[in-house]
Amino acid sequence: MDLKPHIIQLPKILDKRGNLSFFEHPRQLPFSIARTYWIYDVPGGETRGGHAFKEQQEFIVALSGSFDVVLHDGENEQVFSLNRSYYGLYVPQMYWRRMENFSTNSLALIVSDKAYDASDYIREFEEYKRLKND
Ligand code: TYD
Repeated sequence: MDLKPHIIQLPKILDKRGNLSFFEHPRQLPFSIARTYWIYDVPGGETRGGHAFKEQQEFIVALSGSFDVVLHDGENEQVFSLNRSYYGLYVPQMYWRRMENFSTNSLALIVSDKAYDASDYIREFEEYKRLKND
């Protein structure tokens, strides 16, 4: 399966008491979740990420506020602006990604199909391009 990055719309249960959204595998997510982390309290102007993963896939939701996820496939860059909690971005393995333009109080939820593994990171863009084009 060779999926491209794409926005996944999530169910939205509208309710006068407050709305509710969710995702689960396999109905919304193309992978089952091994790990969840979140990024918060990002100072204005900061960038997170700036790496690729050899194996791990991710799904990123702006639970609160907004930010941009910039994906590079080795040739082209694509910017996905996330600013609602009822959709998210699927990021396949082997895409260079960074996150920027965090709004005040933004909260990025990220789920991954792999446990944390430092050796899965590619931290040099030149190395990423070389591996991507292999
Ligand atoms: P990192 O993924 O490098 O953050 P960013 O790409 O946004 O700069 O992670 C920062 C630190 O947190 C790094 O030392 C590894 C640690 N970390 C974990 O221990 N577990 C995790 O699940 C994640 C995502 C990071």
